[in-house]
Amino acid sequence: MSNQSLETWKIQEAEFPQTASVNEQLHFLLNYAVLAPSSHNTQPWLFKIQDEAINFYADRTRSLSIADPQGRELIISCGTALFNLRIALHHFGYKGKITTWTDPNNPDLLARIQLGDAIQESADEHLLFQAIPKRHTYRRDYQDWDVPESLLKWLQADVEQEGAWLDIVRGDIARQVVADLVVQGDHLQMADPNFRSELAAWIHKSDSKSHDGIPIYAQGIDEHLDFAAPLFAFVLRTFDMGDSIAERSQKLVTQSPVIAVLGTKDDNTSDWLAAGQALERVLLRGQVIGLSASFLNQPIQLPELRSQLRKLLKEPGYPQILLRLGFGMEVKPTPRRSVNEVVF
Ligand SMILES: Cc1cc2nc3c(=O)[nH]c(=O)nc-3n(C[C@H](O)[C@H](O)[C@H](O)COP(=O)(O)O)c2cc1C
Repeated sequence: MSNQSLETWKIQEAEFPQTASVNEQLHFLLNYAVLAPSSHNTQPWLFKIQDEAINFYADRTRSLSIADPQGRELIISCGTALFNLRIALHHFGYKGKITTWTDPNNPDLLARIQLGDAIQESADEHLLFQAIPKRHTYRRDYQDWDVPESLLKWLQADVEQEGAWLDIVRGDIARQVVADLVVQGDHLQMADPNFRSELAAWIHKSDSKSHDGIPIYAQGIDEHLDFAAPLFAFVLRTFDMGDSIAERSQKLVTQSPVIAVLGTKDDNTSDWLAAGQALERVLLRGQVIGLSASFLNQPIQLPELRSQLRKLLKEPGYPQILLRLGFGMEVKPTPRRSVNEVVF
């Protein structure tokens, strides 16, 4: 990891400033929040440390206005960072005191976080904490191994603990319906030049100095083809590649060991924040038990397809994230902004 944009992953827990001020301790804890996943790796969060508290803001300047016009995935992304912060608080011996939406005049102030009382983290939380710097999205094919039912139950319990649900798509027919929806989503999105431009703007060369966005290696594209990245972005921006992308998506849905939908009972900002926390809990759990994950959110991003997906699910409510899960291999991290870049 020589690239400066990957330095943020090298956080060492031994550097926790045990005897420093509360504000300095809170600042340190943010090193774990910024490692969270976010759509297109936009990292749409900002923090202000003031009066022994972190004010956690959604950063709308980083919104994906075409793929995510409501800012739903933006808030889910903030939820993943909030979950890391909660786990880090416990790890360093604090219960955390978290109040959400404290300012009626500013809905982008999502939460106010204080250290709270002293506590001892549980053994389980310890495992989740250790998983934070190891978790990465795995977009390649998975091993052809079944995922034991007991592990799926575990993932479902994790998601429920955060007030969401995880519906496992079972049976060839249901899986084919999901595959068809993903394929339709690819065609619709890729036919839209604005969608393609937005996506292309967040895809970077593997050796890019950018501290956000998706490097080409994270797409499962060989790093030796890095010279092709500008060409890839150009082609993406210019041509409708719906057919080839849909073909790949179809294979991903039908061949992944597990397809699961994470959802919530309602569809408000508080549900999205809960969905984000549930998502990060399940991704970290996956990391602990050796399961990798990646996303196929196309049918949830498009309202007409989202309502069709809803009808297929057993759980009442709203799909928020469509996941593929399976056993993968270790992959390289993607860039992150440092804490100093996201604190104002
Ligand atoms: C709310 C949300 C939506 C996402 N949607 C997609 C998606 O549709 N397709 C995809 O390939 N990755 C998706 N991702 C994964 C991000 O691209 C990934 O988290 C980001 O690039 C950072 O990489 P990392 O997860 O390896 O740290 C999503 C992540 C989040 C949190």
